Amino acid sequence: MGCERAPASEEKAEATEAVVEPGDEAEEEHDEDHAHDEVHLGAHMFEIGRRYSAVWYAGEAGNKAMVDYQIHEIEEVIEELREARPVEEGVDVVDYFERSVLPSLERIEEAVEAGDTATFEREYDAVITQCNACHTATKHAFIEIGRPAFNPYANVKMDAK
Ligand code: HEC
Repeated sequence: MGCERAPASEEKAEATEAVVEPGDEAEEEHDEDHAHDEVHLGAHMFEIGRRYSAVWYAGEAGNKAMVDYQIHEIEEVIEELREARPVEEGVDVVDYFERSVLPSLERIEEAVEAGDTATFEREYDAVITQCNACHTATKHAFIEIGRPAFNPYANVKMDAK
């Protein structure tokens, strides 16, 4: 799996490929792998996960400005991935977000805007289902998202308006 860290063997492979003549097919392959590694999807996902936790607390508090802000930042993470366009186990990550997660996040914004907590919670859980569906599809089913256990920001008031 391209996304996994395999430090020792990968470093060795890179060292070998470094001496390959330009134009060699092996080097092109290496470049693709390398571009993928540079994205470091796990770090981007970590940020998405943290921000999505904040969406819960801000949404429960009806803090529309904070919900909009966090969702906007999630959209920016996806924007950053657009150029590298990571594909995991045949799943185009940016495409998946654009088709399912991002439209669902807009419904979350609308629910908070309307002050509709029940809809907010339903849409929040619907996104969690989408997160986990992709984790399963990309052989990361062990990364199971749920509602957060605590506000990930120690010093930002999620209920401030
Ligand atoms: C299109 C597929 C896809 C979607 C949708 C997706 N993820 Fe992920 N996620 C992944 C993959 C693949 C990894 C493993 C990344 C790696 O191995 O570098 C991952 C890893 C993670 C991690 C672990 C990060 C770490 O290393 O600490 C978290 C947290 C996470 N995702 C949260 C989310 C949340 C929250 C959502 C929904 C808002 C979501 N993901 C939606 C594919 C996806």
